[in-house]
Amino acid sequence: MSQYPEKHLEFIQGMKAAGRLAAKTLKLAGQLVKEGVTTNAINDAVHEYTLKNKALPAPLGYKGFPKSLCTSVNECICHGVPDNQALKNGDIINIDVTSILDGYFGDTSATFYVGEVSDQAKALTEAAYHAMHKGIAQVIGGGRVGDIGFAVQKYVTRRGYTPVESIGGHGIGRVFHTEPFVPSVGKKGKGFKLQPWTCITVEPMLNMTSSPIQEFAIPDSEIFYYKAEDSCLSAQFEHTLLITDTGYEIMTLDEEEAVSFK
Ligand code: MF3
Ligand code: CO
Ligand code: CO
Repeated sequence: MSQYPEKHLEFIQGMKAAGRLAAKTLKLAGQLVKEGVTTNAINDAVHEYTLKNKALPAPLGYKGFPKSLCTSVNECICHGVPDNQALKNGDIINIDVTSILDGYFGDTSATFYVGEVSDQAKALTEAAYHAMHKGIAQVIGGGRVGDIGFAVQKYVTRRGYTPVESIGGHGIGRVFHTEPFVPSVGKKGKGFKLQPWTCITVEPMLNMTSSPIQEFAIPDSEIFYYKAEDSCLSAQFEHTLLITDTGYEIMTLDEEEAVSFK
């Protein structure tokens, strides 16, 4: 018995399995976050856990990206490269994990606190979490990416933060990044129409100020990492979603979350 069309079952099962592994991997990475730990140590743990689960870390070698996940600390908006810098008390860190299991991609991220963080860092991080869920709540077959962007933008700007416009979510499936671009700003009813039984990510990035964003090269890679010109704090959360005819289902939940969600 299944509510899913027969034709899409295999794809959906594949995306659920990849999503669940990505979620479990993100949870494990989050448990390592502590003052003194390097982002390379988190990288190594994620790499090993991914291989142990018969999967591949999608970032490694993707357009020349040198590591197995992205670790974006404080002012880094996204695509931070793990290194030997130790985390410090008061830092916030976005950990972005993408697993490839049996050819299917699961992409999820969360922002974690290192020790005691400032009230303003907490408020930004909580707003990023809720902004993601405001966007997710708009997901339904036949809806538009503009509905997602509108909901995120409204939530974020009302709180005095800036949604990053030029980077956002994406279609995902047997490839990492595909159509549509899923924006964090937009107009209701506008833009790409959401196709049931396909997957997208919703992954708003919130900046503390409206300072323009700058791109920085990663050696030997086509991927850039980003910061605002004024180096303001930035936070982000991401889930991979299945678009259904009546709404959505979150693919990037670990087993416990998947049970409590039902
Ligand atoms: N996981 C990121 C996303 O959410 C993409 C990282 S690409 C990398 O789309 F090359 F930087 F790893
Ligand atoms: Co993504
Ligand atoms: Co991601």
